[in-house]
Amino acid sequence: MSRKTHWEKVYTTKQASEVSWTQETPKTALEFIRSFNVSKSAPIIDIGGGDSNLVDFLLLQGYTDITVLDISEAALERAQKRLGEKASLVHWIASDITEFKPNKVYTVWHDRATFHFLTEASQVETYLKTAYTAISNGGFLTIGTFSENGPQKCSGLNIKQYSPQSLKDTFASGFEQLKCINEDHLTPFQTIQNFTFCSFRKRFQ
Ligand SMILES: C[S@@+](CC[C@H](N)C(=O)[O-])C[C@H]1O[C@@H](n2cnc3c(N)ncnc32)[C@H](O)[C@@H]1O
Repeated sequence: MSRKTHWEKVYTTKQASEVSWTQETPKTALEFIRSFNVSKSAPIIDIGGGDSNLVDFLLLQGYTDITVLDISEAALERAQKRLGEKASLVHWIASDITEFKPNKVYTVWHDRATFHFLTEASQVETYLKTAYTAISNGGFLTIGTFSENGPQKCSGLNIKQYSPQSLKDTFASGFEQLKCINEDHLTPFQTIQNFTFCSFRKRFQ
């Protein structure tokens, strides 16, 4: 089954309460984004945003240039339906991140539990190049993956676990690491998944 088929199936057959990654409030992402202290008009992109509530909270906080990218059109449609009229305030991109050709630059790049699905070195390489091209000089990247104490699979797919050090090494060529935390996520099924979240600043070219 292709990656896209997998994710379209997930979002057409399972409710938010039936998938492990659901969060009512994406508290850590919001804290990291707030810590960057960017203007409310700064372009922000959520990579593999799915139907996460992050976009709802960013709109509520007054951010005006938000993009949500996901491989699954069904995921984006779900988020759009939830937002109703506010959906028109958001840019929506249905794309595999490894095929994404950005046509603008972003001040903030957020990714929770999407990067870790890239288990091949060539996919990681492509992601890094895309992020580096798409983020403005001095812009920010915040990424959350399963930690080395976390699960080895997500949504039934293999993932690559990271520690603060391995994320630092992975992003080292283009980005300076700012802050990392390890955090337990309580799933809707009351199980615990340990995540590593790190923020980075793009080095000036
Ligand atoms: C575990 S979910 C996390 C969703 C969201 N970031 C959150 O925190 O709630 C992973 C998301 O990444 C998307 N995804 C997986 N592989 C992708 C890829 N190669 N390109 C773009 N999106 C992808 C999936 O459709 C799904 O919405």
